[in-house]
Amino acid sequence: MLRALTTLSLAAALTLAAAPARAATPLDGVWLFDKAPSFPGVTMLQITSQGGKPKGVVTSTWYGAMEMQNLVVKDGKATFELRNLNDKAHPTRQWTAALEGQALKLVGDFWYAHAEQTGRRGKAREAKARTFKPTTLPPLGSLTPDGLARTPPMGWSSWNKFAENIDDKTVRAMADALVATGLRDAGYIHVNIDDGWQGTRGPDGALRPNAKFPDMKALADYVHARGLKLGIYSAPGPKTCAGYEGSYGHVQQDARTFAAWGVDYLKYDLCSGEWFYDDADKVQRTYYEMGAALRATGRAIVYSLCEYGRFDVGAWGRNVGGHLWRTTGDITDDYPTMARIGFDKNGKPEHAGPGGWNDPDMLEIGNGGMSHDAYVTHMTLWAMSAAPLMMGHDLRQTSPEVLKLLTNREVIAVDQDAMGVQGQAARREGTTEVWKKPLADGSVALALFNRGDAPATISVSAADAGFTGLEGMRDVWAGADLASSRTSFVVPPRGALLLKARGR
Ligand code: GLA
Repeated sequence: MLRALTTLSLAAALTLAAAPARAATPLDGVWLFDKAPSFPGVTMLQITSQGGKPKGVVTSTWYGAMEMQNLVVKDGKATFELRNLNDKAHPTRQWTAALEGQALKLVGDFWYAHAEQTGRRGKAREAKARTFKPTTLPPLGSLTPDGLARTPPMGWSSWNKFAENIDDKTVRAMADALVATGLRDAGYIHVNIDDGWQGTRGPDGALRPNAKFPDMKALADYVHARGLKLGIYSAPGPKTCAGYEGSYGHVQQDARTFAAWGVDYLKYDLCSGEWFYDDADKVQRTYYEMGAALRATGRAIVYSLCEYGRFDVGAWGRNVGGHLWRTTGDITDDYPTMARIGFDKNGKPEHAGPGGWNDPDMLEIGNGGMSHDAYVTHMTLWAMSAAPLMMGHDLRQTSPEVLKLLTNREVIAVDQDAMGVQGQAARREGTTEVWKKPLADGSVALALFNRGDAPATISVSAADAGFTGLEGMRDVWAGADLASSRTSFVVPPRGALLLKARGR
């Protein structure tokens, strides 16, 4: 009979099997870990040999009930495998649990973490309290466009600079800085709190901010009073990427909480949900579940999907209510990473357009890890890609040079062009690339990129813009018209030039 049980009912059966009298091996029963490394957070191990073949489950705070595979119990030691994540070389990892006197020593590896922890025998009641409660996903539905994000969202997010060191005071300071610098008036209106704001759930299950955010509603009011919008962050799994409380089992409730606070933007990050939502169907349904929950609140909330571009997200992102979707893992403040994402992993252009955008991640401009020319490339590439422009630096420390990069009205206009076409490479030659982005006024933005380490001369022709003849040419960064006869340009190492061509 036991063979027919699922993992979850197995957990229940194991709870019943906790009494040592029924134990078939000295490891049978419940083992509790009161001190566990936070990732993956193993809190309990259960083994039963009832019915012959031993079975077992490891319960973790990140991934819930993880079923033991190929479990062998011999001489007071259990050896088994657990499904592993994000490590193609090791789709499973071997673990051991061995008796040490009255205790159980658990040793194993999971993704980037090594766990070694000692557990004690537990009672059925204790096991029940730690048993993971699974939820079921709704069937996939389809959400119609709601008119938000007709152009790529622009604003600021806390993660790239502050990571978890974010608080109410800093967010208010960023809102003030957006106004004082003129960045708000250049279009950067979202103020997004990323991971690290969450506290615990109250008795009613409602998610409360941690002590660093005393009053979210008051913070939203503060942001709104400055003509800005407040964004927040959550995850479909039990844990967010930094290990905070996720929305698992509380999706509708969290959507209502965010709406009641006055939130205007949600970034929903797969994180620990990747254990549960590991195929195209499930990942779509979990993102749809939150998309539908946000809609049901009646509040206009921009919905940012962050599942690192898995399962061709651009093909279904709009359907689940998404207005932007990440195309990759995380950007870092260095040229190779920025270039790898921006040039080669920025999503399929056919998926982008008014209401839904490929998101190659937030900007690093102003964080200091790249040269000026590399940041010119960063901004030019994002503008050509019709990418969301989410700044990620400390806005209070925006140098005049950085401010110029971020507020160039003509460059921003290329990004925000009403036609919403995502530009792409028209030509690649060695370390140079010429990109093309048709604009609503009939002109064509052409970007000349030099990915090499030496200056490069790049020539453009009417054909690069899809014209038979050129009628005018403008240097977009400089805001100056050029002679249309000028077709050859020297581009600095890792730098870029942005042109606007008119023609016939
Ligand atoms: C993931 C996301 C990042 C950031 C962190 C927060 O890594 O991709 O953008 O939100 O989580 O923990």
